[in-house]
Formats: sequence, C-alpha cells, structure tokens
Amino acid sequence: MTQRVLITGANRGIGLAFCHHYLAQGAEVIACCRQPEQAEALLALAESHPHTLSLVGLDLAKPEQLSALCAFVQDQPLDLLISNAGVYGPKGIALGDYQAAPFDEIMQVNVLAPLLLVQALQPHLAPGAKVALLSSKMGSMTDNGSGGAYFYRASKAAVNAIGRSLAVDLAPQQVAVALLHPGWVKTEMGGAHALIDTDTSVQGMSQVIAELNLERSGQFYNYDGQTIGW
Ligand SMILES: NC(=O)c1ccc[n+]([C@@H]2O[C@H](COP(=O)([O-])OP(=O)(O)OC[C@H]3O[C@@H](n4cnc5c(N)ncnc54)[C@H](OP(=O)(O)O)[C@@H]3O)[C@@H](O)[C@H]2O)c1
Repeated sequence: MTQRVLITGANRGIGLAFCHHYLAQGAEVIACCRQPEQAEALLALAESHPHTLSLVGLDLAKPEQLSALCAFVQDQPLDLLISNAGVYGPKGIALGDYQAAPFDEIMQVNVLAPLLLVQALQPHLAPGAKVALLSSKMGSMTDNGSGGAYFYRASKAAVNAIGRSLAVDLAPQQVAVALLHPGWVKTEMGGAHALIDTDTSVQGMSQVIAELNLERSGQFYNYDGQTIGW
C-alpha cells in the first residue's frame, strides 16, 4: 500500500530532501511550508509528481492553521509524520550579550509547534505509524562540551523531552517516535562548512525511521543509527 508521509519545513534544506526521498520511494507526500506559492523547488517537484505530492501552507508559529491541515489530511491516515521545521536564532551571541527577544520564537517553532502538530494529527495517525522529530545533538547534555547557543540548545533539549513523552503516550496507538540528529548538514542552517549533504543525512535518517518500532521508540538517534546520550 502507498505510504502517506507528512513533512514540515518541506520547502528547503533537510525537509526538501525528505520530500525527494519519499517521493522516489513511491510514497504520497504532504509537504508543509509557510508559503507554498513561493516554494519554487517544491512546485517544480509537484510538476513531476502531480498525483503524489501536495503542498499545504503551514506556519508553525500560527497554531490556528493546524485545523486546516487536519481538514486536508481528512480520513486518509498518515504512516509517517516528520516534524522537521526548525529555527536556530541569531548565531555567535556571547554570554553577556543575550536579549530575551528571539527566545519565544525559537521555543514556539522548535518545541511547542512539534507538540501541537503531533497532538492535532494524532487522530490521523495509522496504527503502526511513525513520528520523527528533528532534534539536534546540540540538545544533548552529554555532548555539550563547547557551551554557548543557549536558546537553540535549550529548545532541542526540550523537544527531546516532548518526544520521550509522546513515545509513552502514543504507544497504546502502536505509534513509535524517534528523536533524530541529522548530522551537521550543508543547509542554510548548517552552513557551507558542514560535514555532510542533505542526501547523506536523509538516507541515514530514513534508514533509522525504517527500523523504528515500539521497542526502539523514545530514543535519540544520530543519522547513522547510533543512539545519542541525553
Ligand atoms: N543543518 C544542520 O546541520 C542541522 C543540525 C542539527 C539539527 N538540524 C535540524 O534539522 C531541521 C531542519 O534543518 P535545516 O538544516 O534543513 O534548516 P533550514 O535549511 O534552515 O530550513 C529550516 C526549515 O524550517 C522552516 N521553518 C522555520 N520556521 C518556520 C515556521 N514558523 N513555520 C514553518 N516552517 C518554518 C523553514 O521555512 P522558511 O523557508 O519559510 O523559513 C525551512 O523550511 C531543523 O529542525 C534543525 O534544527 C539541522
């Protein structure tokens, strides 16, 4: 049966590579992004996949848009939900120069939005469906030897806590959840000096997702399948 996959932040970077990957596998993809009418790469992809790719507008800072997404998903259950969209916030801020301003937006998009997204779509998840939340090694306490990046690190640590609770709460519905670190990836967020390209990252993460089951649910995985310490 055709897999139905929903991806947020699908217009560029890792999200766009996920779209390419699952379309190539023959899945039906619901690609969510803020401005579908300006998402050139996705619009081009839709031309070559007119029956399997749908574009849906979703600004994760506007939770009121989730009801329209649920109406779009309707009665056809999802097999895979990838909460990918994220923001880093201003880079290179030293301790002493922090301001409150970007904190709310970062927490809204990286923490609250994945929870509200999964909550809204819970009735639309097929038994045996999988949920992948894009986290980051920067949210790991164990891995933090370099300090800094206070807001981003805090947001990814928080989404790990959310993913862990979701794994417990969705298990009775036979839904497994993974927190994923995509590697340091060449995207707008990762920058040009990053170590791997989006295809390598998505190839690895899709393998982790393929192997995800209820026993493996609620863990924090690197894109190469290794678990990461909280
Ligand atoms: N790249 C890395 O090295 C790296 C490492 C660890 C973790 N990650 C995580 O991997 C995920 C994808 O990162 P990326 O490297 O692909 O980042 P990216 O190239 O900066 O892309 C971010 C995506 O998130 C979307 N987004 C941001 N705010 C949004 C909002 N309010 N509503 C809807 N969409 C929103 C962006 O949409 P717009 O185009 O509309 O802005 C874009 O599609 C993120 O969660 C990130 O934290 C990345």
